[in-house]
Amino acid sequence: MEGRLEREAGTESWWRDAVIYQVYIRSFADGDGDGIGDIAGIRSRLPYLAALGVDAIWVNPWYPSPMADGGYDVADYRGVEPVFGDLDQAQALIDEAAALGLRVVLDIVPNHTSAAHPWFQAALAAAPGSPQRGRYFFRPGRGHAGELPPNDWRSVFGGMAWTRVTEADGSPGEWYLHLFDDDQPDLDWSDAGVRAEFLSVLRFWFDRGIDGFRVDVAHGLAKDRTLPDLGVDEEGLLRAPDRSSHPHWDRDEIFEIYRGWRAVADSYDPPRMFCAEAWVSSPERLSAYVRPGLLHTAFNFAFVRAPWQAPALREVITTSLRTHACVGAPTTWVLSNHDVSRHVSRYGRPDQRDQTAATDARSTAGRIDVGLGRRRARAAALLMLALPGGAYVYQGDELGLEEVVDLPPEARQDPVWVRSGGRERGRDGNRVPLPWARTGPSYGFGPAAAWLPQPPHWAALSVEAQESDPGSMLRLYREALRLHRELWAGAGELRWLDLGPDAVAFARGRGVACVVNLGAAPLPLPAGEVLLSSTPLEEATLPSDAAVWLRTRPA
Ligand code: NOJ
Repeated sequence: MEGRLEREAGTESWWRDAVIYQVYIRSFADGDGDGIGDIAGIRSRLPYLAALGVDAIWVNPWYPSPMADGGYDVADYRGVEPVFGDLDQAQALIDEAAALGLRVVLDIVPNHTSAAHPWFQAALAAAPGSPQRGRYFFRPGRGHAGELPPNDWRSVFGGMAWTRVTEADGSPGEWYLHLFDDDQPDLDWSDAGVRAEFLSVLRFWFDRGIDGFRVDVAHGLAKDRTLPDLGVDEEGLLRAPDRSSHPHWDRDEIFEIYRGWRAVADSYDPPRMFCAEAWVSSPERLSAYVRPGLLHTAFNFAFVRAPWQAPALREVITTSLRTHACVGAPTTWVLSNHDVSRHVSRYGRPDQRDQTAATDARSTAGRIDVGLGRRRARAAALLMLALPGGAYVYQGDELGLEEVVDLPPEARQDPVWVRSGGRERGRDGNRVPLPWARTGPSYGFGPAAAWLPQPPHWAALSVEAQESDPGSMLRLYREALRLHRELWAGAGELRWLDLGPDAVAFARGRGVACVVNLGAAPLPLPAGEVLLSSTPLEEATLPSDAAVWLRTRPA
């Protein structure tokens, strides 16, 4: 099999047009039968991923963790959570993936540690003002007896961003900052030891042969250390800051940190890469993260936020390409991930304006048209994979999985659910373990029942069921990824085609075009050979909510 790894071995540019498959490890494949996905499970499915045709995998955090936030609460950055495996298995995965032409990207979580991390435990045991507390944000409270939090910042997961500790002598003590769960204390990146530690962690994994890191909360590391009140009464995971100088999101001091990280990545042969998870206010702000000498790529969440409407999609594509081109970086397209509602469900919502809600508002849950969403998701896949730049596929996108909206409350684990007192359903609905087979206690996910219950109708969406159906989402993705390498990767800039207000249509490089019809009426197609379509075509028209790849000129 000729993966891009072999074709471009030794170059640093693979990430410019790579398709990277996101493995949410807890829900991908369970190798040891405890109901939770693991490294053994990923290893057993590497041939599936290679055959799917992706270039790389990004694995969500697999480090030792109390799992207060699905592993984004890291207790040891140089280890592997025993539930997932061990370092030897991690090494085997990296090596086996490379042998199949797949690169491996891990997830680094620098904004906060777990409360179980030895640093935080040492901080709790140490006195106010100690160097141990200096790695985090410990502050005295306000009010007569320090009974009020130091400022009004809110946790992204709900409630206040501060928790008060009990000092060694048993008295109520300082407060510490946690922009996420109270088990995820924020690190103070002005501390030299914190900076040095993460450079060392990067090297630890780069030395083991991984190809890059996805950077968690990349926009959160720098804080205004005067900790001014914000005057907001809510935070949200997907919320972008709405002012230019925010005290804890998207501050310019962050970039100096990434300059140091880039130097480490560039010191390797081949150089390693980074992808920023940064929820910022505009494509311009996002492009600041991928300027020369900083991070290589950044998820384009404006694309996730865009409604299924032609003007909005044209606008987000144009703006993203322009702003990234200004800094010489590729755009990185994404439709779904483990934090947002699956796009099959988002595109099936009656109201297309709110694309970001991590949870489908209960009021609209019953009105989601999953069939329509799935039809649009097929078209969206062809749109995304034809665009210049890289793309991420979230596990299950290739099966057309929808958000599971009716998980029983007792099964839910997302801290969003707990901290909001059940008002927000949280993200468990996009993390339901994959169905691999038509039958079995977890539809082939593993030998036992899965940690979150799967809907019985997913038997028909399983890999096994879709393999044998030429019209399935899986077969569409496989063909699209095969053609992606041939037609679109490295095909150069996009030229818009004017096919009317309801079309998103463009041509690239070697005489190929992508046309998406977002209107209600069939769209007449330009002359050309149909290479792939999201739905069967009759005559020279494209039905509503469908996409096609055309060769407009002979090869
Ligand atoms: C972003 C991650 O994608 C999300 O899952 C996590 O809860 C937060 N960062 C906190 O680490």
